[in-house]
Amino acid sequence: MDRIRITGGQKLNGTIPISGAKNAALPLMIAPLLTRETLTLENVPRLNDVAMLMRILSNHGVDHTIEGKRPGDQPNAGQTIHFRAREIVDTVAPYELVSRMRASFWVLAPLVARMGEARVSLPGGCAIGTRPVDYLLMAMERLGARIEIEEGYAVATAPKGLRGAEIIFPKVTVGGTHTAIMGAVTAHGSTLIRNAAAEPEVTDLADCLNKMGAKIRGAGTPTIEIDGVTSLSGARHEVLPDRIEAGTFAMCAAMTGGDVFLEGARPETFQAGLDAIARAGAIVTSNNHGVRIQRNGAGLAAVDITTAPFPGFPTDLQAQFMALMTMAKGTSHITEKIFENRFMHVSELARLGAKIRLDGETAIVEGVTKLKGAQVMATDLRASVSLVIAALVAEGDTTVHRVYHLDRGFERLEQKLGACGALIERISEGG
Ligand code: EPZ
Repeated sequence: MDRIRITGGQKLNGTIPISGAKNAALPLMIAPLLTRETLTLENVPRLNDVAMLMRILSNHGVDHTIEGKRPGDQPNAGQTIHFRAREIVDTVAPYELVSRMRASFWVLAPLVARMGEARVSLPGGCAIGTRPVDYLLMAMERLGARIEIEEGYAVATAPKGLRGAEIIFPKVTVGGTHTAIMGAVTAHGSTLIRNAAAEPEVTDLADCLNKMGAKIRGAGTPTIEIDGVTSLSGARHEVLPDRIEAGTFAMCAAMTGGDVFLEGARPETFQAGLDAIARAGAIVTSNNHGVRIQRNGAGLAAVDITTAPFPGFPTDLQAQFMALMTMAKGTSHITEKIFENRFMHVSELARLGAKIRLDGETAIVEGVTKLKGAQVMATDLRASVSLVIAALVAEGDTTVHRVYHLDRGFERLEQKLGACGALIERISEGG
């Protein structure tokens, strides 16, 4: 299994190109299940999660063709992929696949919308919490599907098709909102989704579906209205830049000091993260082309954050911000409100010398003046990258194990950081 070795102490200086967003690409890749025509996605990141979802979708009958590079293309540009589900060949999503990638549960809604039935394995728990799918199933039931749980599978049927309804989510849910939208776009009649997730990835999905002929209004707000249409066509859509990747590199720059330009980042998609970094002492400026993070000389100040649905501080940046706060002057409180168990990085950060105490859903981080390199590993993607951030300033060498977590969601992480001066290398199996 690959490892990453980092020698701490280098400031970061340079430009980091931001890739297409994993969490936007995944639901966008599922959308072609709704039509016989071709959906072309541009700026698709090269990530293991993307490759895994392509394999899962091909089981259902989605063909994909990856466009070759053209002369003049940026060497690091995202992929352009054509997806087409001319026929759905299987409406079953088996446990072996769904348990490896939770987002594949989202195939439920388009399969039922198009075929009137689907049998999708319940995903089970994961490293960051229990993560139930009850709201997703509730949304499908509201749209008229009959749901039975059989042998660990959600079996959904709607032989006469789905029909528009009012769906009120008790709690903001990204996956629930994706499901409700994909179920409602071709349902008979109109749908009103209340307490919808306003995350930029939801807006990106709605924008793409509207290009395909859907009638969705209000995406990006808590109330989404959808008028069902009889069919969707193909379209071409560019995946949104990854706000979590951008926020992560912003924290790397704030941690090491230096001057980094995050090319292509859209500040409005992670403003809460940028505000917290600015309060910690970095200078944040932005223009139409991206976001610049500078920190020269001044130390880091302790800042309290609480995770919340968009536009609040994202749970997917919580671990990274905690890593930053380990080196701040004073004590910060980091409260996790979205997932009940998302503190797996705490004990690993402690191995590098961080002082963190857990009190329920709050981590109390007492800043230290130095971290020291060690062997570390983490059990999820964002937790793993928080260890990279800490390692960038830790004295000596840190080895981050289980790099496959990073490869699920960060494209060319070591090249992007290395190009800005970080001493970081991948050690392959046997290396
Ligand atoms: C998405 O997960 C993201 N995944 C997560 O990113 C992200 O952390 C999360 O949204 C919150 O922003 C993808 O987009 C692929 P939710 P999702 O439904 O949709 C509870 C990463 O690292 N809930 O918004 O699964 C749930 O337990 C990943 O890239 C129910 O109780 O999250 C949580 O407490 C990790 N019942 C809260 O709602 C349900 O049926 C929000 O979860 C559904 C959710």
